[in-house]
Amino acid sequence: MSSRAKSRDPDEVTLKLSQRDLSTPPGMTANLGAMDLLLATRNQHKTREFGQLLGPNFTLRDLTSERDLPEILETGPTFEENAVIKAIAISKIFPDEIVIADDSGLEVKSLEGAPGIFSARYAGKNGSDRRNVEKLLCELEGAPERSARFRCVIALAKDGELITTVAGEVAGRITKSPRGENGFGYDPIFIPEGFEATFAQLSSETKNAISHRAKAVAGLVRYFNIERRSARK
Ligand code: IMP
Repeated sequence: MSSRAKSRDPDEVTLKLSQRDLSTPPGMTANLGAMDLLLATRNQHKTREFGQLLGPNFTLRDLTSERDLPEILETGPTFEENAVIKAIAISKIFPDEIVIADDSGLEVKSLEGAPGIFSARYAGKNGSDRRNVEKLLCELEGAPERSARFRCVIALAKDGELITTVAGEVAGRITKSPRGENGFGYDPIFIPEGFEATFAQLSSETKNAISHRAKAVAGLVRYFNIERRSARK
Protein backbone atom coordinates (compact mmCIF):
# COMPACT_ATOMS: atom_id res chain seq x y z
CA MET A 1 0.00 0.00 0.00
CA SER A 2 1.47 3.43 -0.86
CA SER A 3 2.17 6.10 1.72
CA ARG A 4 -0.93 7.91 0.50
CA ALA A 5 -3.13 5.06 1.68
CA LYS A 6 -4.36 5.21 5.26
CA SER A 7 -5.56 2.27 7.26
CA ARG A 8 -8.69 3.36 9.07
CA ASP A 9 -12.09 2.23 10.18
CA PRO A 10 -13.85 1.44 6.90
CA ASP A 11 -17.19 2.51 8.35
CA GLU A 12 -15.98 5.97 9.21
CA VAL A 13 -17.83 8.46 7.04
CA THR A 14 -16.18 11.79 6.73
CA LEU A 15 -16.37 15.08 4.89
CA LYS A 16 -17.88 15.41 1.47
CA LEU A 17 -15.86 16.79 -1.41
CA SER A 18 -15.98 20.47 -0.63
CA GLN A 19 -16.13 23.31 -3.06
CA ARG A 20 -12.50 23.95 -2.18
CA ASP A 21 -11.60 20.45 -3.39
CA LEU A 22 -12.92 21.34 -6.80
CA SER A 23 -11.66 24.90 -7.08
CA THR A 24 -8.18 24.18 -5.74
CA PRO A 25 -8.03 20.45 -5.11
CA PRO A 26 -5.16 19.18 -2.96
CA GLY A 27 -3.88 17.20 -5.93
CA MET A 28 -3.87 20.20 -8.27
CA THR A 29 -0.62 20.33 -10.20
CA ALA A 30 0.57 23.93 -9.93
CA ASN A 31 2.16 24.30 -13.34
CA LEU A 32 -0.42 22.43 -15.37
CA GLY A 33 -3.57 23.16 -13.37
CA ALA A 34 -4.54 19.50 -13.75
CA MET A 35 -6.80 17.77 -11.27
CA ASP A 36 -5.47 14.55 -9.77
CA LEU A 37 -7.86 11.62 -9.90
CA LEU A 38 -7.45 8.10 -8.57
CA LEU A 39 -9.15 5.53 -10.81
CA ALA A 40 -10.28 2.50 -8.81
CA THR A 41 -9.16 -0.18 -11.24
CA ARG A 42 -6.27 -2.41 -12.16
CA ASN A 43 -7.58 -2.83 -15.69
CA GLN A 44 -4.94 -1.12 -17.85
CA HIS A 45 -7.33 -0.94 -20.81
CA LYS A 46 -9.80 1.06 -18.76
CA THR A 47 -7.04 3.33 -17.45
CA ARG A 48 -5.83 4.01 -20.99
CA GLU A 49 -9.35 4.86 -22.16
CA PHE A 50 -10.02 7.08 -19.15
CA GLY A 51 -6.71 8.89 -19.74
CA GLN A 52 -7.58 9.51 -23.39
CA LEU A 53 -11.12 10.59 -22.54
CA LEU A 54 -10.26 12.92 -19.67
CA GLY A 55 -7.42 14.63 -21.52
CA PRO A 56 -4.69 16.90 -20.16
CA ASN A 57 -6.82 18.68 -17.56
CA PHE A 58 -6.70 15.58 -15.37
CA THR A 59 -3.81 13.56 -14.00
CA LEU A 60 -4.89 9.98 -13.60
CA ARG A 61 -3.38 7.18 -11.60
CA ASP A 62 -4.85 3.75 -11.01
CA LEU A 63 -4.37 0.96 -8.48
CA THR A 64 -1.82 -1.04 -10.47
CA SER A 65 1.05 -0.22 -8.11
CA GLU A 66 -1.01 -0.76 -4.94
CA ARG A 67 -0.16 -4.21 -3.66
CA ASP A 68 -1.99 -4.76 -0.36
CA LEU A 69 -5.49 -3.60 -1.01
CA PRO A 70 -8.37 -5.63 0.41
CA GLU A 71 -10.59 -7.36 -2.12
CA ILE A 72 -13.64 -5.23 -2.84
CA LEU A 73 -16.66 -7.43 -3.43
CA GLU A 74 -18.97 -6.03 -6.07
CA THR A 75 -22.12 -7.38 -4.49
CA GLY A 76 -24.59 -4.81 -5.83
CA PRO A 77 -27.36 -5.80 -8.25
CA THR A 78 -26.70 -2.88 -10.63
CA PHE A 79 -23.78 -1.17 -12.36
CA GLU A 80 -24.50 1.93 -10.32
CA GLU A 81 -24.40 0.19 -6.96
CA ASN A 82 -21.17 -1.62 -7.81
CA ALA A 83 -19.49 1.58 -9.00
CA VAL A 84 -20.53 3.26 -5.75
CA ILE A 85 -19.27 0.34 -3.64
CA LYS A 86 -15.85 0.52 -5.34
CA ALA A 87 -15.55 4.32 -5.21
CA ILE A 88 -16.48 4.56 -1.53
CA ALA A 89 -14.27 1.66 -0.45
CA ILE A 90 -11.20 3.01 -2.29
CA SER A 91 -11.79 6.58 -1.14
CA LYS A 92 -11.80 5.40 2.47
CA ILE A 93 -8.37 3.87 1.93
CA PHE A 94 -7.05 6.98 0.13
CA PRO A 95 -8.93 9.76 1.94
CA ASP A 96 -6.90 12.60 0.42
CA GLU A 97 -7.64 11.62 -3.14
CA ILE A 98 -10.58 12.22 -5.43
CA VAL A 99 -11.63 8.75 -6.51
CA ILE A 100 -13.52 7.64 -9.58
CA ALA A 101 -14.72 4.06 -10.09
CA ASP A 102 -16.56 2.71 -13.08
CA ASP A 103 -18.67 -0.37 -13.41
CA SER A 104 -19.48 -1.34 -16.92
CA GLY A 105 -20.61 -4.23 -19.06
CA LEU A 106 -22.59 -5.55 -21.95
CA GLU A 107 -26.33 -6.20 -21.92
CA VAL A 108 -27.72 -8.48 -24.64
CA LYS A 109 -31.43 -8.12 -25.33
CA SER A 110 -32.22 -11.73 -26.20
CA LEU A 111 -30.35 -12.91 -23.09
CA GLU A 112 -32.49 -10.67 -20.89
CA GLY A 113 -29.64 -8.31 -20.19
CA ALA A 114 -26.91 -10.91 -19.57
CA PRO A 115 -23.99 -10.82 -19.04
CA GLY A 116 -24.69 -7.37 -17.49
CA ILE A 117 -22.97 -6.87 -14.16
CA PHE A 118 -21.32 -10.27 -14.62
CA SER A 119 -19.60 -9.24 -17.87
CA ALA A 120 -16.05 -9.54 -16.49
CA ARG A 121 -16.65 -13.04 -15.09
CA TYR A 122 -19.24 -14.40 -17.54
CA ALA A 123 -17.18 -17.51 -18.30
CA GLY A 124 -16.21 -17.97 -14.65
CA LYS A 125 -14.11 -16.24 -12.02
CA ASN A 126 -10.85 -17.20 -13.71
CA GLY A 127 -12.18 -16.65 -17.21
CA SER A 128 -10.66 -14.36 -19.79
CA ASP A 129 -11.90 -11.92 -22.43
CA ARG A 130 -11.55 -14.67 -25.03
CA ARG A 131 -13.56 -17.19 -23.00
CA ASN A 132 -16.26 -14.59 -22.23
CA VAL A 133 -16.59 -13.84 -25.94
CA GLU A 134 -16.74 -17.56 -26.81
CA LYS A 135 -19.44 -18.16 -24.22
CA LEU A 136 -21.54 -15.25 -25.45
CA LEU A 137 -21.28 -16.34 -29.09
CA CYS A 138 -22.27 -19.84 -28.03
CA GLU A 139 -25.32 -18.54 -26.15
CA LEU A 140 -26.35 -16.54 -29.22
CA GLU A 141 -25.71 -19.28 -31.77
CA GLY A 142 -28.40 -19.08 -34.45
CA ALA A 143 -30.17 -16.19 -32.73
CA PRO A 144 -31.52 -13.65 -35.22
CA GLU A 145 -32.06 -11.00 -32.51
CA ARG A 146 -28.53 -9.81 -31.64
CA SER A 147 -29.04 -6.28 -30.32
CA ALA A 148 -27.05 -5.26 -27.28
CA ARG A 149 -25.73 -2.24 -25.46
CA PHE A 150 -22.68 -1.36 -23.41
CA ARG A 151 -23.36 0.54 -20.21
CA CYS A 152 -21.01 2.40 -17.92
CA VAL A 153 -21.63 4.08 -14.58
CA ILE A 154 -18.92 6.18 -12.95
CA ALA A 155 -19.06 7.01 -9.24
CA LEU A 156 -17.10 9.92 -7.79
CA ALA A 157 -16.17 9.79 -4.11
CA LYS A 158 -13.97 11.54 -1.59
CA ASP A 159 -13.01 10.37 1.87
CA GLY A 160 -15.69 7.71 2.17
CA GLU A 161 -18.53 9.77 0.79
CA LEU A 162 -20.26 9.53 -2.56
CA ILE A 163 -20.28 12.81 -4.49
CA THR A 164 -22.15 11.89 -7.66
CA THR A 165 -22.68 9.24 -10.31
CA VAL A 166 -22.82 9.65 -14.08
CA ALA A 167 -23.75 7.11 -16.74
CA GLY A 168 -23.43 6.44 -20.44
CA GLU A 169 -24.47 3.77 -22.91
CA VAL A 170 -24.01 2.81 -26.55
CA ALA A 171 -26.35 0.60 -28.53
CA GLY A 172 -25.28 -1.90 -31.16
CA ARG A 173 -25.34 -5.55 -32.15
CA ILE A 174 -23.34 -8.72 -31.61
CA THR A 175 -21.45 -10.27 -34.53
CA LYS A 176 -21.34 -13.99 -35.32
CA SER A 177 -17.55 -14.17 -34.85
CA PRO A 178 -14.80 -11.97 -33.38
CA ARG A 179 -13.29 -9.26 -35.61
CA GLY A 180 -10.41 -6.87 -34.94
CA GLU A 181 -7.52 -6.51 -32.55
CA ASN A 182 -8.09 -3.21 -30.72
CA GLY A 183 -9.70 -2.60 -27.37
CA PHE A 184 -10.59 -5.27 -24.84
CA GLY A 185 -13.41 -7.38 -23.45
CA TYR A 186 -16.31 -7.79 -25.85
CA ASP A 187 -15.00 -5.19 -28.34
CA PRO A 188 -14.31 -7.82 -31.09
CA ILE A 189 -17.98 -8.84 -31.22
CA PHE A 190 -19.76 -5.50 -30.74
CA ILE A 191 -20.76 -3.33 -33.70
CA PRO A 192 -22.02 0.08 -32.56
CA GLU A 193 -25.13 1.47 -34.22
CA GLY A 194 -24.33 3.38 -37.40
CA PHE A 195 -21.15 1.37 -38.11
CA GLU A 196 -20.30 -1.86 -39.90
CA ALA A 197 -17.07 -2.51 -37.93
CA THR A 198 -16.64 -3.82 -34.40
CA PHE A 199 -15.18 -1.69 -31.61
CA ALA A 200 -12.03 -3.80 -31.99
CA GLN A 201 -11.77 -2.80 -35.68
CA LEU A 202 -12.44 0.87 -35.07
CA SER A 203 -9.66 3.21 -33.97
CA SER A 204 -9.49 4.19 -30.31
CA GLU A 205 -10.39 7.75 -31.42
CA THR A 206 -13.64 6.51 -32.96
CA LYS A 207 -14.51 4.29 -30.00
CA ASN A 208 -13.75 7.18 -27.65
CA ALA A 209 -16.09 9.46 -29.59
CA ILE A 210 -19.14 7.23 -29.14
CA SER A 211 -18.59 4.72 -26.35
CA HIS A 212 -20.56 4.22 -23.14
CA ARG A 213 -17.44 5.23 -21.20
CA ALA A 214 -16.98 8.38 -23.31
CA LYS A 215 -20.54 9.48 -22.56
CA ALA A 216 -20.15 8.83 -18.83
CA VAL A 217 -16.82 10.70 -18.77
CA ALA A 218 -18.45 13.64 -20.57
CA GLY A 219 -21.00 13.73 -17.73
CA LEU A 220 -18.20 13.68 -15.17
CA VAL A 221 -16.35 16.56 -16.84
CA ARG A 222 -19.62 18.52 -17.00
CA TYR A 223 -20.07 17.93 -13.27
CA PHE A 224 -16.54 19.21 -12.50
CA ASN A 225 -17.05 22.28 -14.68
CA ILE A 226 -20.37 23.17 -13.04
CA GLU A 227 -18.92 22.71 -9.54
CA ARG A 228 -15.82 24.74 -10.39
CA ARG A 229 -17.94 27.58 -11.76
CA SER A 230 -20.17 27.65 -8.69
CA ALA A 231 -17.10 27.47 -6.40
CA ARG A 232 -15.74 30.63 -8.07
CA LYS A 233 -18.95 32.61 -7.43
P1 IMP B 1 -15.84 -4.21 -14.46
O1 IMP B 1 -14.36 -4.06 -14.40
O2 IMP B 1 -16.42 -4.93 -13.31
O3 IMP B 1 -16.51 -2.88 -14.73
O4 IMP B 1 -16.13 -5.15 -15.72
C1 IMP B 1 -16.26 -4.64 -16.98
C2 IMP B 1 -16.32 -5.78 -17.98
O5 IMP B 1 -17.31 -5.43 -18.95
C3 IMP B 1 -15.02 -5.91 -18.73
O6 IMP B 1 -14.19 -6.89 -18.17
C4 IMP B 1 -15.48 -6.28 -20.12
O7 IMP B 1 -15.70 -7.67 -20.19
C5 IMP B 1 -16.81 -5.57 -20.25
N1 IMP B 1 -16.63 -4.23 -20.82
C6 IMP B 1 -16.84 -3.03 -20.19
N2 IMP B 1 -16.55 -2.01 -21.00
C7 IMP B 1 -16.14 -2.56 -22.15
C8 IMP B 1 -15.67 -1.99 -23.37
O8 IMP B 1 -15.54 -0.78 -23.56
N3 IMP B 1 -15.35 -2.88 -24.33
C9 IMP B 1 -15.45 -4.22 -24.17
N4 IMP B 1 -15.85 -4.81 -23.05
C10 IMP B 1 -16.20 -3.98 -22.03
